[in-house]
Amino acid sequence: MSLVHEIDYGTPASKSEKLVTLTIDGMTVQVPEGTSIMRAAMEVGNQIPKLCATDMLDAFGSCRLCLVEIEGRNGTPASCTTPVADGIVVKTQTERLKKIRKGVMELYISDHPLDCLTCSANGDCELQDMAGVVGLRDVRYGYEGENHTKLGKDESNPYFTYEKSKCIVCNRCVRACEEVQGTFALTISGRGFDSRVSPGMDESFLSSECVSCGACVQSCPTATLNEKAMYNIGTPEHSVVTTCAYCGVGCTFKAEMRGDELVRMVPYKDGKANRGHSCVKGRFAYGYAVHQDRILKPMIRSSIHEPWKEVSYEEAIAYAASEFKRIQEKYGKRSVGGITSSRCTNEETYLVQKLIRGGFGNNNVDTCARVCHSPTGYGLSVTYGTSAGTQDFDSVEASDVVLIIGANPTDGHPVFGSRLKKRLRQGAKLIVVDPRRTDVVRSPHIEAAYHLPLRPGTNVAIVTAMAHVIVTEGLVNEQFVRERCDWEEFQEWAAFVAEERHSPEAVEKYTGVPADAVRGAARLYATGGNGAIYYGLGVTEHSQGSTTVIAIANLAMATGNIGRNGVGVNPLRGQNNVQGSCDMGSFPHELPGYRHISDDATRASFEALWGVGLDDEPGLRIPNMFDAAVEGTYKGMYVQGEDILQSDPDTKHVSAGLAALECLVVQDLFLNETANYAHVFLPGCSFLEKDGTFTNAERRIQRIRKVMAPKNGYADWEVTQMLSNALGFPMTYSHPGEIMDEIAALTPSFAGVNYKLLDEMGSVQWPCNEKAPEGTPIMHIGGFVRGKGKFMLTEYVPTDEKTGPRFPLLLTTGRILSQYNVGAQTRRTENVVWHPEDVLEIHAHDAEVRGIRDGDFVKLDSRAGSTSLRAVISDRVAPGVVYTTFHHPVTQANVVTTDYSDWATNCPEYKVTAVQVSPSNGPTQWQEEYENLSRTSRRIAAE
Ligand code: SF4
Ligand code: SF4
Ligand code: SF4
Ligand code: FES
Repeated sequence: MSLVHEIDYGTPASKSEKLVTLTIDGMTVQVPEGTSIMRAAMEVGNQIPKLCATDMLDAFGSCRLCLVEIEGRNGTPASCTTPVADGIVVKTQTERLKKIRKGVMELYISDHPLDCLTCSANGDCELQDMAGVVGLRDVRYGYEGENHTKLGKDESNPYFTYEKSKCIVCNRCVRACEEVQGTFALTISGRGFDSRVSPGMDESFLSSECVSCGACVQSCPTATLNEKAMYNIGTPEHSVVTTCAYCGVGCTFKAEMRGDELVRMVPYKDGKANRGHSCVKGRFAYGYAVHQDRILKPMIRSSIHEPWKEVSYEEAIAYAASEFKRIQEKYGKRSVGGITSSRCTNEETYLVQKLIRGGFGNNNVDTCARVCHSPTGYGLSVTYGTSAGTQDFDSVEASDVVLIIGANPTDGHPVFGSRLKKRLRQGAKLIVVDPRRTDVVRSPHIEAAYHLPLRPGTNVAIVTAMAHVIVTEGLVNEQFVRERCDWEEFQEWAAFVAEERHSPEAVEKYTGVPADAVRGAARLYATGGNGAIYYGLGVTEHSQGSTTVIAIANLAMATGNIGRNGVGVNPLRGQNNVQGSCDMGSFPHELPGYRHISDDATRASFEALWGVGLDDEPGLRIPNMFDAAVEGTYKGMYVQGEDILQSDPDTKHVSAGLAALECLVVQDLFLNETANYAHVFLPGCSFLEKDGTFTNAERRIQRIRKVMAPKNGYADWEVTQMLSNALGFPMTYSHPGEIMDEIAALTPSFAGVNYKLLDEMGSVQWPCNEKAPEGTPIMHIGGFVRGKGKFMLTEYVPTDEKTGPRFPLLLTTGRILSQYNVGAQTRRTENVVWHPEDVLEIHAHDAEVRGIRDGDFVKLDSRAGSTSLRAVISDRVAPGVVYTTFHHPVTQANVVTTDYSDWATNCPEYKVTAVQVSPSNGPTQWQEEYENLSRTSRRIAAE
């Protein structure tokens, strides 16, 4: 194995379709108009020396190393900033050019520390390379003159260093932060000889606006900005292309290795979701994979009050299987079930649902998507015919208006957030519907045209009010609707939304959003060109989550914003494989490919291949599993890669359900909070240690590849296979590729997918089959999957969760960039420096009337429970609304969330909880008990 090297063409590709022909060093070259001479030369394999240019960034033309001669033109223009022209004749190597380049390099090297042999970038430094390329053997000026070689080092960032003495002021980092990341954290301070890169106002990286995306580090041609691992481990010697295991963006990385040690994760330019960019989690926060807290040996115990006992895999699996069999014999076939993981691969998820349906003989399988995007599956399926987003991420580059509802892309989906911000800086307009003023509402060089800060729980009213404006002001795209949708249903819908009670003025009193702003936003979305909708859990995690998804689908159809580049309806999926876990049949009523379990023909095809009869009754959903456990009819559960105690609502009810189980098998990297109630613990395997595929929010199926051996001995799919065999339902796969072949054989939308295709194409978006052998980047082109698009009425029904004198505030929850979900991984990395605890954002007015100061500990009470945490006074939330994250188990925001849920899918209403906030002295009693329980559990495991 060797390092995967990507070609750097020096400047970005031109998108022009017009071709230009020129001659470079005697070779004829044909390239798109607008291409730089540097890139054109590279296309024919002629690498012009460069330092300030890289193809991730627009040309800047500062280093003067890339000069060329053009016949008939004076001077020596920079090839990075000079575009090609028809018929020009370019020379890249002449005596004059060689002399100038050598002179330039002499100046750089005379002011550079000559510690190449001990430098962390030795062998991976463009300055070093260019010295060789131009044939520099000596420096006429010597090294004794005025220089910067004694400048200090900024090591404040946990992941990379800034060694000022090595900076050549090429500006690549500054431009990367602006153009790629969109944070504008860096400037060049000082002038002339004193010029230096500066984070913020001459601050340290850690205290600046920097969000640690790593784009500057990646772009730096020297060791000035360098990963700390390059110092600690050394330069990598081989790499493997794989996919990030954090969020639903699905960034592709090169895992660069030295032996079996991971040196760094470098974003892959050919990655179709990220196009060479990354965020702090995927780029740097992978240390959890080798964290000492990982449990590497199976453990069992007959009661949750006993200490864990380390056993062999054989013993643990035999114990689990015998317990499941005993429970089924005693309480019936449907008394056991399991939960698949959106963190695990498609192949693993497929196997768990197969084990439950075939091995347990029932359909009691559900997934954490239940608690996040199940309304997306339902809403988009009934209106369009497919339970998935409609576009690829590239599509945003063609959007003119972007409507973001209940999503916070710069924190939750950061690389998409950066791509979106780039488009906004190019002039696209933005509408944000969110109770909180998220970063994207106003950030450097970006200002939303409209921010509609609605009261939590009123999404349906706002989106329907936008539809009211579009219908009553004659902004409907009638041609699209007549051609593509059911016209009668449209008319019924149009009459419904046109009712005065749906007008922005009528709904203002309960949404809290000024009618004028709703009208303006609706007009902009309908008339501003290509309109794209992106939404997140702020839409789905409501009692009317499915209704809002339907309302969004209606809005896109009414305006004709579906079925082409730049438009569409795009759910921003939370976890890395939440799309995949849904695709793979993780819901109790659906087999892989979203086919109902009651469909005889579908069931028959699975029965034939699996060699087992299947139950035709849908099984239990997650909340029903806990209800049944408390009632005593559900007794055994296999949970792979999820911490349901922390991630599901109404923690008290969940823990009561878990405590009532006679056999809980938890498979995870760490002894998570759910494992406090487990009888069998099976060690999980990180994404670095196994093969498989994830499917991201674009329906993009991507490979993850094993870069190191599983520290626990087995990949998760192998452990599931062992359990299935012990249950008497044989599985004999020798590689996940065989599991994918079976998925393809049974699932029409995956029929063309196999590992060979994925290796050749890099990734593919489903449907991928005979009709679309290379996949489907954009859905519903020319017609909806279901035939005619279906308009549905969206009556606004206020949630039963009401504010009142006891609970006068509304709590809504979300994520922060540096942490991820329940924090099991990110809390075990240096990312904690940015978010060591969950805090409660509260408006100054609400804080003042309660006597709360910034930083005070406060008690957060709801009808479901109470917790305590620190308050931060913030104008990001409106009076009456408070906000927190749920990354730390000691806070457990879900202790206060209720068990209200979406009417169609049971997706919990995390986003609306009536609460009271009051001053407090510290953690509540349960928090102290909980900490003790977790500590004891961990100690017992360690012993
Ligand atoms: S790490 Fe990212 S955000 Fe921070 S300075 Fe570099 S490019 Fe900017
Ligand atoms: S830190 Fe690196 S990328 Fe930035 S100006 Fe200096 S040498 Fe160039
Ligand atoms: S944006 Fe998501 S997929 Fe990409 S690096 Fe960050 S966490 Fe990973
Ligand atoms: S690479 Fe062209 S001027 Fe620096």
